[in-house]
Amino acid sequence: MGKTSNTRVYKVKSIDSTNNYAQKLIDDKAINEQIVVITQNQTQGKGYGRNSWESQSGMNLTLSYVFFPLYLKAEEQFIISKAISLGIKDFIELFVEDAKIKWPNDIYVSDNKIAGILIENTVCGDNITNSISGIGININQMDFHSDLQNPISLKLITGIEYKLEDCFELLNDIIENRYLQLTENPKKINSDYIKALYRYKEFCPYKSHNNWFNGRIVDIDIFGRIIIEKESGEKSFFGYKELEYII
Ligand code: BTN
Repeated sequence: MGKTSNTRVYKVKSIDSTNNYAQKLIDDKAINEQIVVITQNQTQGKGYGRNSWESQSGMNLTLSYVFFPLYLKAEEQFIISKAISLGIKDFIELFVEDAKIKWPNDIYVSDNKIAGILIENTVCGDNITNSISGIGININQMDFHSDLQNPISLKLITGIEYKLEDCFELLNDIIENRYLQLTENPKKINSDYIKALYRYKEFCPYKSHNNWFNGRIVDIDIFGRIIIEKESGEKSFFGYKELEYII
């Protein structure tokens, strides 16, 4: 365990899921300040829904932050997702020219997924008591076996092998800054997120409840729902899992 600026770092050799480990620290009341759990070997990484997260041992960044954003209302929780997505995008862009956020919080380079985020918030009444932000970033992995999404790694893009320790130091500074921005300049988080969206304002095919249509992303509301404008000019709101990107 070490300390990097504002965040206490828990380094764990091998663990099923850094999100689970973080949850246990919370349940055991072992922490009351911002921490990050990182492992080189995550054996049962969790993805969104029922998905798993594939990461070969020693190849990638797999880590989970715990924040205590007591100042945030439960209904505002999507802004955490925005801040973390932007932090990962900032990090990727240290190495690669253009990274995008595929709503709600996948990080893409061109049409390939390079990072995923699993946010698990605890809400008490109107407020958020703690937030686990699990982050998986593909760094040096060269082949992927799960057929979930079109995965890619930094090394597959640039041909360069990266030192995970250095990557973590860089990422941690960036995430801390984006997290601070949540309180200091939330407007910037909101405007940067919109600008960073994959396929923002481009007419593309989408599917919702077996209904196919062309539309373009025009905004994200405070609850994190995506707003799509159809060719007719009609606007529709979709929550996560209610909208599928076609191709
Ligand atoms: C997704 O895109 O489906 C979300 C993937 C999140 C993966 C990360 S890896 C570190 C943290 N621990 C987990 O078990 N999952 C997240």
